[in-house]
Amino acid sequence: MNKIPLVQKIISKNTDVDTVAIIPGSNFKYLTGGNFHLMERPTVILITQNNSCFILPSLEKNSFEELNIDAKVFYWQDKDGYQDAFQKAFSYLGDVKSIGVEGQNIRFIELDAFQKVIPNIDIINYHKQLSSLRITKKQDEVDSLKKAIHLSEKALNDTIKFVSVGKTELEIKNFLIKSLYDHGTHKIAFDPIVLASTHSALPHGHPSDYKIQHNDALLFDFGGCVNGYNADITRTFFVGAVNDTQRKIYDTVLEANRIGIEKCIKDNTLDLVDDSVLSFLEQSEFKEFIEHKTGHGLGLDIHEEPYVVRGNMQKLIPGMVVTIEPGLYDKKNCGVRIEDDVLITESKALSLTNFTKELTII
Ligand code: GLY
Ligand code: MN
Repeated sequence: MNKIPLVQKIISKNTDVDTVAIIPGSNFKYLTGGNFHLMERPTVILITQNNSCFILPSLEKNSFEELNIDAKVFYWQDKDGYQDAFQKAFSYLGDVKSIGVEGQNIRFIELDAFQKVIPNIDIINYHKQLSSLRITKKQDEVDSLKKAIHLSEKALNDTIKFVSVGKTELEIKNFLIKSLYDHGTHKIAFDPIVLASTHSALPHGHPSDYKIQHNDALLFDFGGCVNGYNADITRTFFVGAVNDTQRKIYDTVLEANRIGIEKCIKDNTLDLVDDSVLSFLEQSEFKEFIEHKTGHGLGLDIHEEPYVVRGNMQKLIPGMVVTIEPGLYDKKNCGVRIEDDVLITESKALSLTNFTKELTII
């Protein structure tokens, strides 16, 4: 699989850079099928409108050859360092003046190596342009996402049966991880967030040895990964009982989630989706408990374009997959977030997440 010509098309359309650099990560995987590690050894694809080459640590030779990509490779060994490979790669490509880079990935070590070869090189953040590569999903990508979500939901179903008063957040998290693997996910999308009581009001809190108590909220934000594609699901439950404030917060977030999904229609802007959700939450009695935007694109990366955020005037296109994950975080009581993974279709929003959102006491 060699999708490098897709980048060459972007370069020829935009003409704002003559070269693009890709380092290990989701774009690298999408373009080559190769799953190289981003580590201390620079590993770079350089792409121009009519040419491309790879700079690879020599220990990746086998992995690269398995990809069957017909391209010039400049290998380097630990004992020699990598700078000479950069020198040779740029000489091979010819007259490079400007380079588009993955603004969210690229590191000082790669930029420094570029500048040591071409001191006046223009470095341009090419994140937005490159995001067009993966912003809509093809059928095989949607199938992998569906599978990851389905297996994740099975794991959650097992895990809520495991929950009981006295178990710790960490014990429950570790059960969930095992369950994700038992059901056949290839890896976990990220270390699951399992938070109880007031901890659930920390949007990105870390599970602890806190022991679950009666009447606690219990929030799960997690996902399994299949063929590189990630599920990202949040559900919030109550243990043994729910009080009136918890129920009101829950119902408000559930309605915000419903509004968000309803607005996920082709040609609506991402701005409109986030604004509809946030306006509803802002008009509720829980306005001060809002902490974040409505969602993000989902695919090979857990957070990727398009972002469901006010000000993003990009329109929804069939094939996009976004999360709709409104939350309210009452630091003195509980946090509630409900997150679904939603596919934009020609007609309406299709939630790929099917796990119940009815308020559930476990
Ligand atoms: N889970 C909320 C956020 O990362 O925006
Ligand atoms: Mn998410």
